[in-house]
Amino acid sequence: QQHIKEVEAFTAKTEAEIEEFRIKYLGKKGVLTTFFAELKNVPPAEKKEFGQTVNALKQAATEKVAALKATAGSSKARQTQYGDLTRPGEPLPLGSAHPISIVRSRIIDIFSRIGFTVSEGPEIEDDWHNFTALNLPEYHPARDMQDTFFLQTDPDILLRTHTSSVQVRYMENHKPPIRTISPGRVYRNEAISARSHCFFHQVEGLYIDKGVSFADLKQTLQYFTQALFGKSRIRLRPSYFPFTEPSAEVDVYWGLETETDYKMTKGTGWLEIMGCGMVDPNVLDNCGIDSKTYSGYAFGMGIDRIALLLYQIPDIRLLSENDMRFLKQFKSAP
Ligand code: PHE
Repeated sequence: QQHIKEVEAFTAKTEAEIEEFRIKYLGKKGVLTTFFAELKNVPPAEKKEFGQTVNALKQAATEKVAALKATAGSSKARQTQYGDLTRPGEPLPLGSAHPISIVRSRIIDIFSRIGFTVSEGPEIEDDWHNFTALNLPEYHPARDMQDTFFLQTDPDILLRTHTSSVQVRYMENHKPPIRTISPGRVYRNEAISARSHCFFHQVEGLYIDKGVSFADLKQTLQYFTQALFGKSRIRLRPSYFPFTEPSAEVDVYWGLETETDYKMTKGTGWLEIMGCGMVDPNVLDNCGIDSKTYSGYAFGMGIDRIALLLYQIPDIRLLSENDMRFLKQFKSAP
């Protein structure tokens, strides 16, 4: 009985230990052989019980050896030429969304809630879609508003200076009612500084239907600034764009509560966030939409500037330097 307890409690780490254990109990000169030899000396009255106990010990020892060998075998199988394949993996570092992506998704989300679709177009454009169709014929002085990168070999091919080009393409291929926004990267031949870069990102919007008015535009902008900034007090300042008439710059009232507000708004409380206006009838006609039947509004904003604003990022260049220490800070929506 004592031996059975010992056998059941036995554990072994190495194969040598298991083998030693096997020999001790089950070997030719092992404990069991001795007990079986002793059987003939046991008085007949006790023989039966003695025999049963010895058999139980034999079974326990046999099972123990088998069990130990099985676990030793499987832990051996884990050690392959690649190392231990059952070890848990190294934790993968989770990436985070780029601030431009976060802001772009928020803007798309806000406009999709009121029925705007998302449209995209090429970054390498032709003159017609970037300028001429938008009421900016060749030699029009307003072309200077957007300093352009041209392809050296072909002055007709350029890097788009705004995503208004996408809206031209959209109008050429869709009938009103049209409600779409075009997010995308744009390029301008500008000196790089903390405030401006030679490429940046825009979201432009276009709404065309029968009877669309400036009041519709203003209401949509108010809805948008409330949803994005939590501020719905806006101001429309008369401005000029060749493709809209009338045109306006949109300022949002940021307030003057903190010193940062004061600095950001140069003491006025107002921040310019986008341009907008009623689509010029010439543009509609250029794109195959009858300007006598339809009217519409358009607006355009820079995602980068808005990201700088929402996250209080001091320099636009940080957005394209891919410094991990900077990027890692953006985990969720602003
Ligand atoms: N396309 C203009 C720009 O890039 C923005 C704009 C879009 C203005 C639509 C008015 C209407 O500056």
